[in-house]
Amino acid sequence: MTELVLPSDTNILGNLMGGRLMYWMDIAAALAAMKHCNAPVVTASVDNISFENPIKIGNTVHIEAKVSRAFNTSMEVHLKVWGEDFQQQYKYKSNEAYYTFVALDPNRKPRTVPQLVPETQDENRLFEGALRRRQVRLILGGKMNPNDAVELKALFFKE
Ligand SMILES: CC(C)(COP(=O)(O)OP(=O)(O)OC[C@H]1O[C@@H](n2cnc3c(N)ncnc32)[C@H](O)[C@@H]1OP(=O)(O)O)[C@@H](O)C(=O)NCCC(=O)NCCS
Repeated sequence: MTELVLPSDTNILGNLMGGRLMYWMDIAAALAAMKHCNAPVVTASVDNISFENPIKIGNTVHIEAKVSRAFNTSMEVHLKVWGEDFQQQYKYKSNEAYYTFVALDPNRKPRTVPQLVPETQDENRLFEGALRRRQVRLILGGKMNPNDAVELKALFFKE
C-alpha cells in the first residue's frame, strides 16, 4: 500500500500521526490476511510498534504486508513500513510490526485457514519465530498458561 501524507494526516509538527499510520497498517495487513484465506477477518491483536523515524508531510508511506504464518483460525501478518522523500530522493525506515487476524465464517465464528508454506530463507525465519510470538501474545492476552509455551520457554531454559 502506498499513501501520500497530506495535511489532514499530520500532527502540529507536520509529521504523520501514529494513529493514522496504524489505521493504514491495519488495512494493508487485513488485505494480506483476507487474500490468504478468502474470508472476512478481524484484527485479534497488534504487537508493540516503535516508530523509529517520523514521516514528514508531503512524503510517501510504503507499507508491505505479508502473512508470515497461518495457525488454526488465525494468521500472523508481518508489516514493513518506510517513508520516501521524492524531492530529496531517499527512503527511510519507519517501523516493523506484527498484526494477528482471525478468519470468520458466515456466522461470525472463527473458521480454519489454509496453511502457509514458507519458501525463502526470510520467510522461514519469520515462520519459525511466529510460534513464539503467538505464545507471547496469548500469554499476555490471558489465553495461554505460560507453562504450555514450550517453544518460548526453550529460549530461556535448557532441559
Ligand atoms: C479475535 C476473536 C475472533 C477471538 O475469538 P474467540 O472466541 O476468543 O476465539 P478463540 O479463543 O477460539 O480464538 C480464535 C483464534 O484467535 C486467536 N486469538 C485469540 N486472542 C488472541 C490474541 N489476543 N492475540 C492473538 N491471537 C488471539 C486464538 O489463538 C485463535 O487462533 P487459532 O485458532 O489459530 O489458534 C474475538 O475475540 C473477537 O471477535 N474480537 C474482536 C475483534 C475486533 O473487533 N477487532 C477489531 C478491533 S475493535
